[in-house]
Amino acid sequence: MAYTPLEKGNLAKNRCLSEMGIKYGKTAAQIALNWLIWKENVVAIPKATNKDHIKENFGAMGWRLSEEEYEAALRCI
Ligand SMILES: NC(=O)c1ccc[n+]([C@@H]2O[C@H](COP(=O)([O-])OP(=O)(O)OC[C@H]3O[C@@H](n4cnc5c(N)ncnc54)[C@H](OP(=O)(O)O)[C@@H]3O)[C@@H](O)[C@H]2O)c1
Repeated sequence: MAYTPLEKGNLAKNRCLSEMGIKYGKTAAQIALNWLIWKENVVAIPKATNKDHIKENFGAMGWRLSEEEYEAALRCI
């Protein structure tokens, strides 16, 4: 299980992840969460009190970064 999956919200502000998400129409938070669940048996439970954040975080599921993007995302942080 991921420990502070959005790095307490900081990853949602990551410009590099945000740019990576343009191709998919996804936000930095969605890229960060998709990266975590990319690997089998990894679970991410982000905390969100804001309704828009909760809805946005659902958008981290149902699609998948390519293997190259998975590696590239590591260089964003
Ligand atoms: N068992 C353990 O050892 C352990 C350790 C650490 C954490 N946890 C638990 O794991 C959960 C998450 O931990 P955490 O709060 O430290 O870190 P987190 O999930 O990485 O980040 C939470 C923060 O991210 C913001 N956020 C969520 N979705 C966002 C989005 N789409 N865009 C922008 N900001 C977004 C939230 O803001 P809003 O609230 O404004 O939406 C909140 O400030 C908590 O329930 C915590 O209790 C457990």
